[in-house]
Amino acid sequence: VGVAALVVRQRMKTSGRWARVMAIVKEFEEKCGTPEGKLKQLADAMTVEMHAGLVSEGGSKLKMLISYVDNLPTGDEKGVFYALDLGGTNFRVLRVQLGGKEGGIVHQEFAEASIPPELMSGTSEALFDYIAEKLANFVDEEEQRFHQPPNRQRELGFTFSFPVMQTSINSGNLIRWTKGFSIDDAVGQDVVAGLTKALQRKGVEMRVAALVNDTIGTLAGGRYTNSDVAVAVILGTGSNAAYVERAQAIPKWHGPLPQSGEMVINMEWGNFRSSHLPLTEYDHGLDIESLNPGEQIFEKMISGMYLGEILRRVLLRLAEEASFFGDEVPPKLKIPFILRTPEMSAMHHDTSSDLRVVGSKLKDILEIPNTSLKTRRVVVQLCNIVATRGARLAASGVLGVLKKMGRDTLRDNGKKTVIAMDGGLYEHYTEYRECLENTLNELLGDETANSIAIEHSNDGSGIGAALLAASHSLYADEKSL
Ligand code: GLC
Repeated sequence: VGVAALVVRQRMKTSGRWARVMAIVKEFEEKCGTPEGKLKQLADAMTVEMHAGLVSEGGSKLKMLISYVDNLPTGDEKGVFYALDLGGTNFRVLRVQLGGKEGGIVHQEFAEASIPPELMSGTSEALFDYIAEKLANFVDEEEQRFHQPPNRQRELGFTFSFPVMQTSINSGNLIRWTKGFSIDDAVGQDVVAGLTKALQRKGVEMRVAALVNDTIGTLAGGRYTNSDVAVAVILGTGSNAAYVERAQAIPKWHGPLPQSGEMVINMEWGNFRSSHLPLTEYDHGLDIESLNPGEQIFEKMISGMYLGEILRRVLLRLAEEASFFGDEVPPKLKIPFILRTPEMSAMHHDTSSDLRVVGSKLKDILEIPNTSLKTRRVVVQLCNIVATRGARLAASGVLGVLKKMGRDTLRDNGKKTVIAMDGGLYEHYTEYRECLENTLNELLGDETANSIAIEHSNDGSGIGAALLAASHSLYADEKSL
């Protein structure tokens, strides 16, 4: 065969390849579609499930967990409190000095550490020992710095961001792990007891005064600075929401009616599931191969732990079936979770004319050198499809919560409803955040949108836990002296 014939054959191969690429991308985009009508159906389905979950334990995929928080911070909280925030890849320890009505947060310090991956699937003793050790060091340093006499009656708010069946404000059993944790011996056990024993082993005197989910902490932290905060949403490694419910609207609550008439509910919305969700073959694959198949389906479509992984799965199919990256499938592309959401966000955000960030990420992470501009454009398009679907679905979840609260239409009293939001995904993934906010406005309509506001509650969950420790303190009187 002559050179000309070879060139022609090569061109035909290339154009066939691109046709295949575009067909796969188009199909994916269609399956990910989230038209307004679908989002409204999803919001309605969320509302229905919320009702069902409040009626009886196990009444719905939504656990609608009772938090035992029936009073949110007022501003009167006073004294020094610690907080420990465990729930994603990182954990934090905090020390907060609260100054009461006039003083606000007088002082706060924190330290952060990452959780070594092997501890995420080891024993609960190993995990709690590690945390207790970091906390012990932090307490020592802080007390030396502030010249505090040791062994004061220390109290802690423990933010533990997994589904927990609480038995009181400061005790509760782990229902199951999410977000890649899988420490079997901890399931069904009281997490406060686990932490307290580890603290004793390290010789730290500390009373756990409040056990809270990160959504509850964020709600408490948000309310402290803005009295209109009534909902909290986390969009980070995982995703979840909490809101203030009327105690009388919780048939499964058999305890005494709180004086406030209210109870904060941890929805565990990550486990929401509905036939209206635009699930694709990539989502099914991700779910089946995950540590918790069949669970946290909503979370797997919208949260930070999974967006990059969905993208990887689409790229892998393109590589395998349409030679997207050339004749060979890049070996790195076969490694689950190698493409993290922050990298996806960086590619999505690339505004350079030659998409050089996309090029360098593909090269550095997946070891795919020399990608064409055309290829890079497709990658950005895929980032957009995955992030847009996630953000729009998250917005439909928020609408569902507002509906349940009767705040999805304009209120007579003109009062605002503020949603406290936190989490790395919301904080750092600009396209995602903007899409979520725009979609919520679109769903609410102009008039109502004005009465709803989203506020970024920066690390509200740790401070919120400290505030709740303060309002459930045994020694508050002595501390505020
Ligand atoms: C997961 C956890 C939930 C937590 C959320 C955000 O969904 O199950 O408890 O609030 O992640 O961290």
